[in-house]
Amino acid sequence: MKKTTFIFASVSAVVLAGCATFAGDDYQKMTKDMLNQSFETKGIAKHERLNQDGLQAACSEAEMTGKDLDATLRKRLEQEQLATIKMPSDGKYLGDWTKAEKIAQSGVGMAWNNKSDTVNGGNCYACHQMTKKEISFGNLGPSLYHYGKLRGNSEEVVKYTWGKLYNAKAYNACSNMPRFGHLNGLTETQIKDMTAFLLDPKSPVNQ
Ligand code: HEC
Repeated sequence: MKKTTFIFASVSAVVLAGCATFAGDDYQKMTKDMLNQSFETKGIAKHERLNQDGLQAACSEAEMTGKDLDATLRKRLEQEQLATIKMPSDGKYLGDWTKAEKIAQSGVGMAWNNKSDTVNGGNCYACHQMTKKEISFGNLGPSLYHYGKLRGNSEEVVKYTWGKLYNAKAYNACSNMPRFGHLNGLTETQIKDMTAFLLDPKSPVNQ
């Protein structure tokens, strides 16, 4: 079960996307009202979670109208997201890959019954293949098996990988991948461990 929990899934985007064919203004308002009334603050899951930021609103709009984001707007949104990325405080991008399998497997975190100090997982397998050994994985995202083997670990690749994990929408505005660093889903140490998992030649990702 743990792998099927999409801890960061954007509730409103998913529900509203289902209504694309009836996307009149009234219908959209009704759906929003319904969401607002049915989602209650419970534990650490506050009602404010329903408030979309500008990027989410623009992506929901694009999804509902079936019109892709305008190129200029997309560029501006991605640049804003890029500006949120904090590089590791000590300049070291690569952590301990042996700790990352656990993070990739775990969908725990940010649920109403978690505590604010619960250690979150990244739930990567829910969307990605990563290693050969794990045969249960989702395919919403591309396979990451042999990620480092295929790309090497030049400075550019290391920084991109870090940035993608920190804020996936900086490189693809309406990406479905959670913004792990930006939304405090994973800690700096966890992102380091995950970056090493993807890039270290000894990691099972690259076997
Ligand atoms: C809810 C689904 C979802 C989850 C969970 C998720 N991803 Fe992704 N990821 C995607 C999608 C979709 C893409 C491709 C679209 C894009 O580039 O944003 C992607 C792209 C990526 C890429 C870029 C691949 C490339 O070829 O450049 C990396 C690296 C990545 N994910 C790593 C991870 C890791 C590590 C985790 C767990 C910490 C994770 N993802 C969790 C959906 C997800």
